[in-house]
Amino acid sequence: MSEEEGNLSYKEAIEKAGSSITRFPLIRIRGVPLMSHIANNWDSIWAFRPDPSDLLIATYPKAGTTWTQEIVDLLLHNGDAEACKRAPTPVRSPFLEIYSPPPIPSGLDLLKKMDPPRVIKTHLPFQLVPPGFWENKCKAIYVARNAKDNLVSYYYFDLMNKTQPEPGPFDGYINKFMKGELSWGSWYDHVKSYWVEKEKRNILYLFYEDMKENPRREVLRIMKYLDLSVSDEVINQIVELTSFKSMKENPMANYSCIPSLVFDQSISSFMRKGEVGDWKNHFTPEQAKMFDEDYEQQMKDVNIPFRSLI
Ligand code: PPS
Repeated sequence: MSEEEGNLSYKEAIEKAGSSITRFPLIRIRGVPLMSHIANNWDSIWAFRPDPSDLLIATYPKAGTTWTQEIVDLLLHNGDAEACKRAPTPVRSPFLEIYSPPPIPSGLDLLKKMDPPRVIKTHLPFQLVPPGFWENKCKAIYVARNAKDNLVSYYYFDLMNKTQPEPGPFDGYINKFMKGELSWGSWYDHVKSYWVEKEKRNILYLFYEDMKENPRREVLRIMKYLDLSVSDEVINQIVELTSFKSMKENPMANYSCIPSLVFDQSISSFMRKGEVGDWKNHFTPEQAKMFDEDYEQQMKDVNIPFRSLI
């Protein structure tokens, strides 16, 4: 990144990248399809060395990443809403593997400019997370969301995110999801990859549905995992500030920082619905049956307690 590029805001950098923004093809890295800009810079991502104090927030796309990033930032700032409006989410908590056309800073560019401890987002499955995270015993929070709601959320995201491949018709999208052909690969492999490592690597494994059911309980779990101590009053404030409604209205959390040539929120809001069970409005009974049968097969080797309704 040149000095001039470094002085642009995130939004200005995206606007400057203009016509080079396109729906990027996917290229497989160790079998996992990733956007070409990520795949083409894979060596630098794999070589990233975190600080032991850095925290990783890992998810399959659309599982509750932004929500968790906001909760963590507020916990680290003792519930100070203004402090957490210092910058938009992807600047406060960079996206490890993201690479986009210049002058948009990569996740690694943003991380280089920050002092640890940093809160780092990734969608990489466990086996593609740079090994430095585990060698340095970094803390990591994984958030998983039930497959059908995750798929629906991803479908709407792929409609509005102009850098991801076209989602095509919903029926075909279900097939691509089941075959692991979407960006960042198979949901099934992803949720399993962290599940089997969670004890050994001290990963806090959370569920989106639990967060919806009882956000206070899950905020407290995160607080304890991070060895923080925050008053009851502040916890209540954090729960309120990270409600779907508050985050939808918060320009530093709702991705309005990304211009419409990348995220066209007139097609679908980043903060779309934020519910459990929205899949029922999208899957036909036949599609749900076919999906559930395949799910049984793909998930038979693990017992992860997903709930697709609460
Ligand atoms: S991304 O692009 O992968 O980082 O997206 P991610 O943040 O993981 O997921 C976006 C979905 O999470 C919903 N969301 C929330 N739900 C409940 N409460 C809060 N506070 C919240 N914040 C974000 C968001 O609406 C997306 O889900 P859908 O189902 O599409 O609404």
